[in-house]
Amino acid sequence: MKPLQVVTLWWMLLLLPRLGATRQAAPEEGSFYYGTFPPGFSWGVGSSAYQTEGAWDQDGKGPSIWDTFTHSGKGKVLGDETADVACDGYYKVQEDVALLRELNVSHYQFSLSWPRLLPTGIRADQVNAKGVKFYSDVIDALLTSNITPIVTLHHWDLPQLLQVKFGGWQNRSLANYFRDYADLCFEAFGDRVKHWITFSDPQAMAEKGYETGRHAPGLKLPGTGLYQAAHHILQAHAQAWHSYNTTWRGRQRGVVGISLNCDWGEPVDIRNPKDIEAVDRYLQFCLGWFANPIYAGDYPQVMKDRIGRKSAEQGLERSRLPVFSLQEKSYVKGTADFLGLGHFATRYITERHYPSRQGPSYRNDQDLVALVDPNGPDLGSQGLNSVPRGLRRLLNFAQTQYVDPPLYVTGNGAAQKLPCSQLCDQWRMQYLRGHTNEMLKAIKDGANIKGYTSWSLLDKFEWEKGYSERYGLYYVEFNDRQRPRHPKASAQYYQRLISAHGFPSPREVESWYLQAWETCSINSHRLAAGPLLSHMQMVTEIVVPTVCTLGILIAAVLLMLLLWGQT
Ligand SMILES: *[C@@H]1O[C@H](CO)[C@@H](O)[C@H](O)[C@H]1NC(C)=O
Ligand SMILES: *[C@@H]1O[C@H](CO)[C@@H](O)[C@H](O)[C@H]1NC(C)=O
Ligand SMILES: *[C@@H]1O[C@H](CO)[C@@H](O)[C@H](O)[C@H]1NC(C)=O
Repeated sequence: MKPLQVVTLWWMLLLLPRLGATRQAAPEEGSFYYGTFPPGFSWGVGSSAYQTEGAWDQDGKGPSIWDTFTHSGKGKVLGDETADVACDGYYKVQEDVALLRELNVSHYQFSLSWPRLLPTGIRADQVNAKGVKFYSDVIDALLTSNITPIVTLHHWDLPQLLQVKFGGWQNRSLANYFRDYADLCFEAFGDRVKHWITFSDPQAMAEKGYETGRHAPGLKLPGTGLYQAAHHILQAHAQAWHSYNTTWRGRQRGVVGISLNCDWGEPVDIRNPKDIEAVDRYLQFCLGWFANPIYAGDYPQVMKDRIGRKSAEQGLERSRLPVFSLQEKSYVKGTADFLGLGHFATRYITERHYPSRQGPSYRNDQDLVALVDPNGPDLGSQGLNSVPRGLRRLLNFAQTQYVDPPLYVTGNGAAQKLPCSQLCDQWRMQYLRGHTNEMLKAIKDGANIKGYTSWSLLDKFEWEKGYSERYGLYYVEFNDRQRPRHPKASAQYYQRLISAHGFPSPREVESWYLQAWETCSINSHRLAAGPLLSHMQMVTEIVVPTVCTLGILIAAVLLMLLLWGQT
């Protein structure tokens, strides 16, 4: 794409909501939009196997690369934590389904552990019947409660043996093993599961697993490993989709898509065409890297150009970005029945030239810097600033770039580290309200959005961050062997939002806040009154929530004054 076209596209995107304005009552940027979601819009929460299940070596499960990574010694994970037990979710299916009922969600998005089903990763070796039964029971429990399962085949916990034997996603043959695994899942669960996600956030999987090494398998192959991995992941995705389309769709009538995470990007200087171009590059390297092959049959032109040029400058004969053959292009193109988008934050992008002689790297290839909002609230989770309008823009972007695909928001949520967050998570309610409202605006703009998954149901193992960040609508006591769950204020807030199917009126939406605060402060006291509490826990669980609740009440009063002022 030429720079001028990019700039034009950008402005069109900015104007899109406003053009919509002439057609219908327009959701304006900057003001809250009261209204309801279309009938059939699906609300849910998400989780993933490795982050929650525990039971890492039980009932015939094989090891995953994350088991190996977390067991391999110091410094890989904050506090050297593992997910050997995590939320103990393997033994708490009924309890967690009860939480889903309490939330009144219409779907639950969770992932299957590949090594739990196939201990070596290879279907021809051995299928673990206990693993099949476990997920089969989970699915039945959901359906009995009228909750639609949205099933992710792979959320990062690759069978360790596939890493050892083949070098993981470095190897093309993994696409075949993934297809066989997917086929097993379609065969075993497809009579009841109608929504499949092949991969969750493959961008992070490739970058953190093969470029920075911060995630399992911990490889540092800058500027090469991640592109190879992504290339094979895309082919694995396509093979699974084709297998479904050819063998299963006729009988099972489900849909197969992929879930891609990308933070929205905004130019640091909106008048600087170089920054605007850098934003487009940022989005193409993040989202287009996977979405473009699936929707247009090849990598984004800007990736091919940049990586090709830099590879040449680095004295390489071939581009570090792999090339799809003509046959592969047409095989990969059109392999998504829907596009899942995960969005957590918004970045501010500015151009920065990195000389090629610094050596190959993903960062170097992009020639930009992605900053966290300098004005955003810093609540302890690095980079997770709340700029809800970014979600609407990302959805509008996907709608125009990939020609109006069915969209799901497959991940959106906030982590909090402050003790304040324990049960009275005022900031998460704010985040949820803001982002779902922007999503509603995107629907009014015309985006075909089918559902929303709040990330996540429970506090859980957060990869290299251990248990230091909490995303849950439910608080999990990780230092109690029983791993009890307690609803945070946001759980109640979300339940109200779901049950109202949107935002009926200022007065009602405001009452959700107040009621959620009331409940959470009572629950905080109950939690703190438990017999096992030490003095220190009393301080964090009674004093801090009390102070927080006071703060929140003051904020509520201010907010109400503000609302009255507006009406
Ligand atoms: C892929 O795996 C095969 C079989 O083990 C092996 O012969 C080949 O060298 C591997 N390729 C890479 C790039 O690791
Ligand atoms: C998917 O399956 C349908 C029905 O069998 C077939 O008509 C169609 O060509 C298939 N799509 C692709 C891309 O293979
Ligand atoms: C659950 O949500 C639906 C709308 O999505 C609503 O009709 C129903 O009343 C809700 N149930 C409860 C118990 O709030």
